[in-house]
Amino acid sequence: MNNRIQIFDTTLRDGEQVPGCQLNREEKIEVAKELEKLGVDIIEAGFPISSPGDFASVKAIAEVITEATVCGLTRARKEDIDAAAEALKPARRPRIHTGIGASDVHIKHKFNSTREKIIEQAIWAVEYAKSYVEDVEFFAEDAGRADLPFLAQLTQAVIKAGATVVNLPDTTGYLLPHQMHHRITYLFEHVDNIHQATISMHNHNDLGLATANTIAGIQAGARQVEVTINGIGERAGNTSLEEVAMILNVHKDLGFTTGINPKHLFPISNLVSNLMGMPVQANKAVVGANAFAHSSGIHQDGFLKHAQNYEIMNPEDVGVPSSAILLTSRSGRAALRHRLQLLGFELEKSDLDKLYTRFLLMADERKMIHDEDLKELVG
Ligand code: KIV
Ligand code: ZN
Repeated sequence: MNNRIQIFDTTLRDGEQVPGCQLNREEKIEVAKELEKLGVDIIEAGFPISSPGDFASVKAIAEVITEATVCGLTRARKEDIDAAAEALKPARRPRIHTGIGASDVHIKHKFNSTREKIIEQAIWAVEYAKSYVEDVEFFAEDAGRADLPFLAQLTQAVIKAGATVVNLPDTTGYLLPHQMHHRITYLFEHVDNIHQATISMHNHNDLGLATANTIAGIQAGARQVEVTINGIGERAGNTSLEEVAMILNVHKDLGFTTGINPKHLFPISNLVSNLMGMPVQANKAVVGANAFAHSSGIHQDGFLKHAQNYEIMNPEDVGVPSSAILLTSRSGRAALRHRLQLLGFELEKSDLDKLYTRFLLMADERKMIHDEDLKELVG
């Protein structure tokens, strides 16, 4: 099996639909260009039928993106698919992403329909989208809670209808990693034509398991992952691009590759956060402000002896300028001496000991000690 994982970024669709995260057309184009530089394979540019502005943005992105596939979302409806096809016309590599609910709760309470009718509508939608573009992705919404034999039947039917990718979203972030692994394995064992399509993971983070479930899906055979920058998205968000990219990069032993250039991760995280006005939590993996910051005395001492004592990635490799040693009352003499040396102060051991006692008093009071505070201490 091919071990190259396709990175499908949905920051501009599933991420951007979060209240307060809306971007204007120019901002979306800027993000799309940076996503292309980052090396994503597919950019989901929006949901063209949803508003004239979104339609125009998808079209504008389709005009400027040259390497990545540009994708537009639709429901399994004629007017949606027509709008997506129109917006994607300028794209060099267009993809229509159409689909419908697959769990009984969605079939009954959202569509007031039956499993049989859902399969019929799914086949129709894929065939209709295929009349416009070759590359059609089908999403089985809420696949995470769908009846598994029915999901296998639906997957088989949409692949037969021409779907090139089948997306099996855990829309509600419900599954545990071993359950995701089991479900994808089951589909590989029960869907005869599954190797004619790429299986995609699209996981939400309601229980904080989106990334773990995505990796479990890859290990069971999925070869596309749907992710967003900083994990932004509905409710608790989507799977975070930077986490999946760096898990596959750090754990080369797993044997998977992506087209992502990690050096762009931190800059694009900042760009998206600033444009959307959505701060990144300080302890966010890979791109958070504290991801490469060391604050306790034991860690700082070990880090100063050898960075690999406490770092599994180099900050520069993900575009973070450098690691940081934060000075607080939990810091030890090693960190204090290191910072003083950077400021040009070389102290004898006995002087450092005396200064350290005063440093702790100041740190208890001020919480964080900055260079200005240190200069004040040295006098
Ligand atoms: O979470 C989800 O199920 C989705 C689909 C529309 C792909 O975002
Ligand atoms: Zn989603």
